[in-house]
Amino acid sequence: SQVDVIAIDGPVASGKGSVSSGVAKALDFHVLDSGALYRLTALACMNQCVDLSDAAAAEKVAQSLNPLFKDGKIYLEGKEVTDAIRTEEVGLNASKIAAYPGVRKALFELQRRSAVAPGLVADGRDMGSVVFPEARLKIFLTASAESRAKRRYNQLKEKGISSNIDDLVSDLKDRDRRDMERSVAPLKPAEGARILDSSGLTLQETIDLVLAWYRESK
Ligand code: C5P
Repeated sequence: SQVDVIAIDGPVASGKGSVSSGVAKALDFHVLDSGALYRLTALACMNQCVDLSDAAAAEKVAQSLNPLFKDGKIYLEGKEVTDAIRTEEVGLNASKIAAYPGVRKALFELQRRSAVAPGLVADGRDMGSVVFPEARLKIFLTASAESRAKRRYNQLKEKGISSNIDDLVSDLKDRDRRDMERSVAPLKPAEGARILDSSGLTLQETIDLVLAWYRESK
């Protein structure tokens, strides 16, 4: 793509979403939350009672996915699903269908089309490795499992969803394992990615570091 892309990849609840929106806001860039597309596909499969172990069926759902992102809200077939896609169940199901090459292929163009002026911050698992290999800056954002579980706990609490830290640690480890072990677009630092461990950093410090690296890259 012609425009600048900042790719931010990393495991579950590493803070990709908050860091990406902070960076995008500072630069007035667009944001691509690629995980939302996998979550939307999973939710659409669940709504249509599609068997999640049926790769071909999930691929069809991904091909006809037509989500609307508007004013910070997400709609699927005319229904607002902004919060509905954030549950742990949808996250786990998303990681199942994300392992199917056909699903990833179906969502590829949708993601590429987000790279428009003045620039894009793309967050996910394979933004720097597969979807935007030409990205100006690639970040692999990590944090300890404990700080990630705490972060997820607070996110869910804010949304009025109650959860349990131990369950969250085991969920995120499950999901990370599936994301790292799949043969297509596995979660790993892209070539040329800078590793950023946010465990001891505040959100603002993390955002500032990404912005500094971006300025350096120019
Ligand atoms: O980032 P988020 O937790 O919303 O992503 C949900 C799931 O979607 C991940 O666990 C992963 O399996 C999948 N995903 C992916 N590639 C991306 C973004 C998300 O495989 N670029």
